[in-house]
This record gives sequence, structure tokens and C-alpha cells, in this order.
Amino acid sequence: MAPQAWVVAENGEDLQQPREFLPLSKLEDVGVLYWHLDPKKSESEEELAKIRRDRGYSYMDLIEICPDKLENYEEKVKNFFCEHMHADEEIRYCLEGSGYFDVRDKDDKWIRIRIREGDMIILPAGIYHRFTLDSAKYTKW
Ligand code: LAC
Ligand code: NI
Repeated sequence: MAPQAWVVAENGEDLQQPREFLPLSKLEDVGVLYWHLDPKKSESEEELAKIRRDRGYSYMDLIEICPDKLENYEEKVKNFFCEHMHADEEIRYCLEGSGYFDVRDKDDKWIRIRIREGDMIILPAGIYHRFTLDSAKYTKW
């Protein structure tokens, strides 16, 4: 199943009312990979282990993003939403909560990808992106 993705403005606000969801091919075009797993099921652990093996990931960090659990919350959240890129791909697996990854498409528009519990996303190396919480203000990954 494809994650919900739509176009947002530079400031992160919706451009269309109602939202028009983009087809999965739009994410494929920018090289974003996506899986949905169930963090509560052991089959998902096996699948996760396989993805990690296949892609050669050895490193994993666990972080909770919310006002009362993350040190320097305001500053970190500001930095997450500041457009940036990495030399390596970025992989995130949402264990609880929700949020949005925004990625730049080929026309420099922001595509917003909704992330919910069990969503695993890989952003390719060198792609401009940013992250923000939604109004529930909680993500664990
Ligand atoms: C990061 C995300 C927020 O680099 O893009 O940690
Ligand atoms: Ni990043």
C-alpha cells in the first residue's frame, strides 16, 4: 500500500483543498522507498531484519520526538524542518506516533509523505528533505 503523499507549500501548508493524493509513481520518481510493517508482529521483525541485511545497515538509533522527552526539543524540531540532505540514504522506521517527511521533487516542489506507525521509509542519498511532527506532536523511531 502506498503512503499518502501530497504537495505542500514552502512553509509546509497545504496547497490544495481538499488534498489531492499523489500516485506511488511520484515517490518512485524521486527514489523514495517505502514499506509498511507492524511493529507488534514478529514477522515484521524478520522482514525488518531482511531489509537491514539486504541494504547493509548495521547502525540503528531510537529516538522519541516530543516536547517532554527530547532534550532541546524546540531546537531539534526546528533543525529537522530545515531543508537538508545527507551523503548516505536516510532510513526511518516509525514505531509509534506519526509525522511528515517532505522531499523535493524534480521540479523543486515539496512532496509531503505522511508517516504513521509501522511505516518504514528510505530517502535516497543526496535528496533534499525535512521532517515535521503533526499536531499530535509525537513520533518514536
Ligand atoms: C534527519 C531527518 C529528520 O536527518 O531528516 O534526522
Ligand atoms: Ni535528514
